[in-house]
Parts: sequence; C-alpha cells; structure tokens
Amino acid sequence: MDAYILNALKDLVGTDNITTDKEDKLVYSYDGTPMVSHLPEAIVTPTDVRQISEIMKLANEHNFVVIPRGSGTGLSGGAVPVENSIILLMNRWDKILEIDQDNMTAWVQPGIVTSKFQKAVEATGLFYPPDPGSQDICTIGGNVAENAGGLRGLKYGVTKNYMMGVEFVLPTGEVVVNGGKNVKDVAGYNLRDLIVGSEGTLGIFTKILLKLIPKPQTSRTLLAYFDRLGNAAQSVSDIIANHIIPCTMEFLDATTIKCVEDYAHIGLPTDVKALLLLEVDGHHAVVQEEAAKIETILKKNHAIHFETAKDETEALRLKTARRAAFSALARIRPTTILEDATVPRSNLATLIERTADIAEKYHLQMGNFGHAGDGNMHPTVLTDERDKDEIKRVEKFFHEVYEETIQLGGTITGEHGVGIAKKQFLADFIEIPTLESMKKIKQSLDPNNVLNRDKIFSIAPRCEGKLA
Ligand code: LAC
Ligand code: ZN
Repeated sequence: MDAYILNALKDLVGTDNITTDKEDKLVYSYDGTPMVSHLPEAIVTPTDVRQISEIMKLANEHNFVVIPRGSGTGLSGGAVPVENSIILLMNRWDKILEIDQDNMTAWVQPGIVTSKFQKAVEATGLFYPPDPGSQDICTIGGNVAENAGGLRGLKYGVTKNYMMGVEFVLPTGEVVVNGGKNVKDVAGYNLRDLIVGSEGTLGIFTKILLKLIPKPQTSRTLLAYFDRLGNAAQSVSDIIANHIIPCTMEFLDATTIKCVEDYAHIGLPTDVKALLLLEVDGHHAVVQEEAAKIETILKKNHAIHFETAKDETEALRLKTARRAAFSALARIRPTTILEDATVPRSNLATLIERTADIAEKYHLQMGNFGHAGDGNMHPTVLTDERDKDEIKRVEKFFHEVYEETIQLGGTITGEHGVGIAKKQFLADFIEIPTLESMKKIKQSLDPNNVLNRDKIFSIAPRCEGKLA
C-alpha cells in the first residue's frame, strides 16, 4: 500500500489509532476459520463516524479494501483480510448507549461483547436471547454482520429477530439510519433486514438498536443419553412434532462428548453414542408440564439415562461445557474444520446418520454437534492441513454432506455465513438468478467493491463490465 494512503489514514485517525507493525498484522490476518489468512496492510481504529465515512471515501478514491472487524471469532472468514486491505477495528466502540425499560429496547455500539451486554440487560430484569457459542468474546456488531444464532435460537430466534434499528456507513461513505423504536414501521425498504447477515459487505454498523424481552421466570436444564444416534435425533423430531418448543435442544455425538469431558471434566459418560442437552424456560407451571412431556418422549425413544440439573450453577456448567465443544474438539488434531449444515428439523435424523456414514467412508475423524432443535449441525473434521491426501478426502466429505443437506431441503450455512469458506458451496448450490440478484445489490451499494471484497461471492472489476 502506498505510503501516501497510510499517511492519509494516519492524518484521519491519529498515529495512536493505526498500526502497520508486523506482529499486529499477523494477529489480524485470520479469524476462527481454518486455512484462510492474509496479512492486512494496516489496522485502523476509527474513533467517530465521520472518520469511517472519510476512510470509505479514501478507499473508493484509491481502490483499497476495508475489512470491518470485531473480535474475529467468525467461522467463515468474514473478517479475514484480502489483498490490499486494511482492518477497520471496531472493538473500542463498546458502549451500551441506552437501555430503555419502557420500550424494552437498547441502543449499543457494535463493539460491545455479547455476554457483557446480556448481563447488563439481565440486571434490569430484561433479556436479550441470541447467544452464539462464542458469546464471551464475540461482539454485537459481528453478530449482526453474520446474523448469528446460538443455543436459544429454537424458541427465541436469531439476531435479526432482535434488530429494530441501525446506523451504518455505506461503502461509499454516506451515513444511513433505518428503523427505530416503533414496533411497526414499514416506511420504505427494510434496510436493516438487508444489512443483518450481510457479512460486512454492505455497510459498517456504528449504532445498533436491539429489542429486549422480559426475562423468563424460571428454567430447567435436562440431559439425556442415548446408545443410538437415531434415537437422539428422533427425540428431537418428536419433541417438535408434539409442538413443544424448548429454549435449547443441543445434540452432541460420542466424539464430541469425549472431547468436551476431557476438556471440561463435568462428569459426562464417555461410553454413550449421543447426548441431548435441553432447556425449557418460562412460567413455573409451563416449565414443569413441558419437562414432563419431554421426559415421556425421551423414554419412548429409548434414552438410556435422563437427568435434571440440580440448580442454576450446574445448568450453567453444562451449557458452558457445550459452548466449549468447538474448542474441545480443536485440541485433538492440528486443523479443525467445522461446518454448518442445516436441514428442516424433520430431516435431522437422516442428516446426522448420513454424515456419520460419509465420515466413515472417507476414514475421517469427525465429531458432530449442534443446535438440533434448529436442524443446525456442526460436523467437525479433525485433520491436518499438511496432509494433502487427507485434506482431499475432507473436501469430498464436505461436498457429499452438503449434497445430502441440499437434497434434504437444507442450506449450506445456518448461522456462520458464507464468507470465504463457503463461497464455492454457494456458487454450486444456489440458483443463478438468486446469486445474480445478490451481486446486483452489492454492486449498487458498493460500486467500486471496496468493502469486504471477495466475501460471499466475487465480482469482476467494473471495467470488465460484467458480473463474475
Ligand atoms: C457453536 C458454534 C460453533 O454452536 O456455532 O458452538
Ligand atoms: Zn452453533
């Protein structure tokens, strides 16, 4: 990157807010995604909205790429730099600007850590449900960019269901505000629904308005163990088919259980084939009734053991251990490739069993876990990127898993986004007119393709006059 661009950036944000240090660049060259990394030219922390606008104008003038970034926990490469790019670091934008008890809303800056925000909200008796696995590290801005889900998605939905308004800077530098505290608002296009899940390609959030709900009165956390994968998956389908919506319904296979137990030492049995972690919440009477119905369904599906967390501390320990599944699996081999296959819930049993068969066919070490209640699974291959032969088998494995997923009416990503990691799958599995419509939206808002270029899909340089 030319020195005059770096100097212009320095003039804009001040020398303390930009670094081109080699080690810093290395730190920001990757996120939580394996096998994708690239060094940025600089890491820039803007301190006000005007600076972000000016940076975007500069990027358009000089054709460099801006990569917005929060904590970098993403699992599809959304915050990974590309050629000739700078990181726009938003971590220091970490204030809760307002919690409005009367309207049950909160304005926040994008860099606030999700669990820190949740705790502040809960201290007021309100509740913010979206709880991605990385909630103690990830930021609300990143959650909005990826439309993050989490363990409570089944009953409470995902980030987009809570986003009421947003202020964001367009790739061309203008500041847009859309939405607000009105529960009903159909004044024009719903830009906030466009920007949520846009993976940092359509705008940089500077303020986010979130919906809050009353905190559930009580909850109960249940564990069930199975000696057959199919029985666990069938229990999930049966619970939903009986119109019970637990707040959480998580599945862990044998490999994942072993790794989690080894990591967290919470006393999980390591000789079972599958585990379901369930939570029901709400009014006392409802919690009791639903827990009883669930117990009947689990028994009918031959759960070999069934237990209830004795208190909140134990429930929290179980959920925290589940949240650590990815980290626990990542300790086994040098490279961990975690995916995000999602199907309609009635097809979950088939997906889980087929995924296990395909892993066996390619002789791969695979742990499978995920948000069973959402039909959202994270088949995770434990491998070594230096072993080219094994990596070829891993690629074939994921391709077959995604073919199966699509045949079962599913999608290639339920909550992690496309980013860099799933670009090829998107191109393979989405209809051309759908993909072209997405590219047209990107081109109209980012004509010079300077914001998070080459994520989700690639667009040919403008002079070629066509979409790639
Ligand atoms: C989880 C992340 C990997 O569910 O999505 O733990
Ligand atoms: Zn997940």
